Amino acid sequence: MPPWTPDSWKTKDASQAVAYPDPEALARVQAEISRLPPLVTSWEVEGLKQQLAQAARGEGFLLQGGDCAESFDDCAPDSIATKFKILLQMSLLLVHGTRTPVVRVGRIAGQYAKPRSSATEERDGRVLPSYRGDLVNCSPFTPEDRTPDPTLLLRGYERASLTLNFVRALADGGFADLHHPENWDVSFAKDSPLHEEYRRIAQAIKDSISFMEAVTRTRSQLLQRVDLYTSHEALSLEYEQAQTRQVPRREGWYDLTTHLPWIGMRTAQPDGAHVEYCRGIRNPIGVKVGPAMGDEQLLRLLDLLHPDDEPGRLVLIHRLGADRVQDELPRLVETVRRSGKTVLWCADPMHGNTETTAAGIKTRRFDRILTELQAAFEVHDALGSRLAGVHIELTGDNVTECIGGAAGPTEQELHLDYRSKVDPRLNYHQALEMALLIARHLRRDGSPQRAR
Ligand code: PEP
Ligand code: CO
Repeated sequence: MPPWTPDSWKTKDASQAVAYPDPEALARVQAEISRLPPLVTSWEVEGLKQQLAQAARGEGFLLQGGDCAESFDDCAPDSIATKFKILLQMSLLLVHGTRTPVVRVGRIAGQYAKPRSSATEERDGRVLPSYRGDLVNCSPFTPEDRTPDPTLLLRGYERASLTLNFVRALADGGFADLHHPENWDVSFAKDSPLHEEYRRIAQAIKDSISFMEAVTRTRSQLLQRVDLYTSHEALSLEYEQAQTRQVPRREGWYDLTTHLPWIGMRTAQPDGAHVEYCRGIRNPIGVKVGPAMGDEQLLRLLDLLHPDDEPGRLVLIHRLGADRVQDELPRLVETVRRSGKTVLWCADPMHGNTETTAAGIKTRRFDRILTELQAAFEVHDALGSRLAGVHIELTGDNVTECIGGAAGPTEQELHLDYRSKVDPRLNYHQALEMALLIARHLRRDGSPQRAR
C-alpha cells in the first residue's frame, strides 16, 4: 500500500468533494489553520480510545449526540449550555440503567459540514450549488452565498474553538457537579409523565454519592467534573488535514480538530479519499454503516481502518431503519465476527427513519426511533454481541422537528418551532424520554451489562 501522508487522500476519489474556485485562497487558509493551536490534545484522544475500548469490552456505554449540523449561529451560550445539559442528563439516566460508566461524546465543536444527496439545487428554474453546511458555503439561495468560500474553514475552526472553550468550562465546576443533579432539572416540564421517574433516579444517584462519601469520609473532587468529548463527520478533508499533527513523544499522526471523527455513509468507499485520510490518523474512528454496506466492503474497511485490532479504535455506527434492522444487522454482526476483530457497536436510530410529511416537512417519529433501538439491542443480544452505544440527533431546545413521545408535537404541530436546516432532531423532552426508555430497557433486560 502506498505510504500515508496527511494529504495522501488527494490521490483518491473524494465523494462529496467541494470545488473551491480559488485553490490559492484555500491553501492560504489551510496554512493559517495549521499554525493555530490544536482544538483537542493527543492525550485526550488516547483517553477516549481507552474508554471506548472499555465500553467495547462490556464495561461502559457510549452516548453520542447533538445536532445534525451545527450552525455558526449556534455558537451562543444558551445553545451550548442546553446541549451540554441534555447530554449530561441523558448520561446520568444511562449510567443508572447500565450500571457502567457512560462515555459522553457530543456532535459538537465542528459538526459544520454536511453531505448532500445532490450537488446542486434547483429553484424556479435556477440551479445553484447545494448548501453544504456553514463550513463550506451559506444557505441563502444566491450565487454568492452558495459559492464555496475557504475562509469559512477558518471561521469554523474559530467557532469550534469558542464552543469548546465554553464546554470545557461547563464540564469543570458547578454546572456539572454530580453532587447537585437537581441543578440539571430546571426546565424539565413538571407535568410530564416522566418527570417523577427522572427525579427519582436523580435522587437515587445523589443518595449513592452521599453514602459513598460518608463511608470514605471524603468529598470526591472527581465528581465535580465530567468529560464531554467532541466528534464530527470528517467530511471536509481540507479542514481535517490542516490540523493533522505529530506530537512530541508519541508515534503517528493525530487529527486534532476533534476527538472522534467519523466517516459518513456516503463517503465510506474503501478506495475513497475519506477512508484514506482516516486510516492514517491515531484517533478512534466512527464509520456509519447503512443497509447498502456489503460484506466485502465492510471487511475491506476493517482491514484498512482497523488493521491491528487496536482496542477502542473502531466504532461501527449502524443506521439501518426500523424496517430493516432485523434483516440487515445479523449479517453485519456476523461479518465483523468473521474478521476476528473487536469493534464498538453503536446504533444510530435516526438516519434510517427520516420521512417527509404530506406537507413536505422532513421529520422522524419517536416510535420508529425507539423501535429501531429496541430491535438493535435484541438482535445483538440474540447473536451474543453487544450494542454498546447510541448515536442520536438532538438539541437541548424545545423545537418541534420530530413527531411523538409522551408530550411531543403531532404532525400538525411541526411547523410551530421547526429550526433545523437539515435533519430533524429530538427536542429536550424527547431526548430525555428516549434516554429514560433506553435505561429502562437496559435495566429490565440486563443483557448489555453482561460481559461476553
Ligand atoms: C449524519 O450523521 O448527519 C449523517 C449525514 O449520517 P449518515 O452519514 O449516516 O447518513
Ligand atoms: Co443528520
